[in-house]
Amino acid sequence: MKKILLSATALVVAGAFALTGCSSERGGDTGSGSGDEAKGFAADATIGVALPDKTSENWVLAGQLFTDGLEEAGFKADVQYAPASNTVAEQQNQIQAMVTGGAKVIIIGAKDGKQLTTQVEAARDAGVAVIAYDRLIENTDAVDYYVAFDNFEVGKLQGQALLDGLAERAGHEAPYNVELFSGSPDDANSAVFFNGAMEVLQPKIDDGTLKVVSGQTEISQTATEGWKPENAQRRMDSILTSSYGSETLDGVLSPNDTLARAIITSAQQAGKPVPVVTGQDSEVESVKSIMEGVQYSTINKDTALLVEQAIKMVGQLQKGEEVDVNDEDQYDNGKKVVPAYLLPPVIVTKENAAEAYANVPSLLEIVKSYQ
Ligand code: BGC
Repeated sequence: MKKILLSATALVVAGAFALTGCSSERGGDTGSGSGDEAKGFAADATIGVALPDKTSENWVLAGQLFTDGLEEAGFKADVQYAPASNTVAEQQNQIQAMVTGGAKVIIIGAKDGKQLTTQVEAARDAGVAVIAYDRLIENTDAVDYYVAFDNFEVGKLQGQALLDGLAERAGHEAPYNVELFSGSPDDANSAVFFNGAMEVLQPKIDDGTLKVVSGQTEISQTATEGWKPENAQRRMDSILTSSYGSETLDGVLSPNDTLARAIITSAQQAGKPVPVVTGQDSEVESVKSIMEGVQYSTINKDTALLVEQAIKMVGQLQKGEEVDVNDEDQYDNGKKVVPAYLLPPVIVTKENAAEAYANVPSLLEIVKSYQ
């Protein structure tokens, strides 16, 4: 039920995007340099989808939506997840097998965007188009397109939500004591989220509004290996012990919901007040927590819309048409600026949740159950 409703939403919104006429002159004869996608391919071709380990709900949902959506569009779907162990090598093998197996397009949610050069270059050499999904693939010119929510904007929204939450809930005037968390260093998104947030937060650190009591403000210090909640919880535990004996922690920048809940658990287990904590992904448990007044914010990045856009790209490649992109300068992967289609993320707090999830029936139902 959830899936069908999400897909219906996706169709409506995807239609709206189509009407805005977001398109570019970039066709199959530019980008990868292979030029093969300009010729199109069979309407029932196999499309490979290589997804990373399931570090958040969005990845779980994406697999099902790709399987159903590609098959509804007439393609054969080969959807694979990288397992939790030996993840990078397994994903490399899966992509290589998709190339050998004759996939015409491979959509990749990279486990480690820096370690797929050999595989995507093999794809390019075989005339297979490569679409980076959600996470950029780096250091190769063999990635044709990127489809994602606007990651820098996600970070900016998180930074602003932290400031708004502090003003609303800290119960005192500035300065506010805060700590910063970022995602896994092997995910290209992590730095983009963090840099977006710091664009908003750094001036407030500089002018003394925010005080990072641990002193840990470098991304190397804030990183959460593997996006694993236990790593975030351990780091929060140790910061609370070392820096918050007598100080109160007012707020935490968390890059996603899984880590937000781990940070909240850490504060609760230490017997401290729950700080203002940001998030991302609109995971069910975090939406409930927001409605209960615990987690402060999340981001709505509707996976159905992102999958829909990726499948639309596949359809355009299949017909040899121009592929819609709306950003041609933000995503330099070290070897080329990858033409991208970016969707707009939406900040969600308790206050605007009903409005933010108006088109996501499963989450709207949760919100309404608290009203
Ligand atoms: C995604 C986030 C997600 C994180 C961990 C990122 O690449 O953009 O939505 O929370 O991976 O799975």
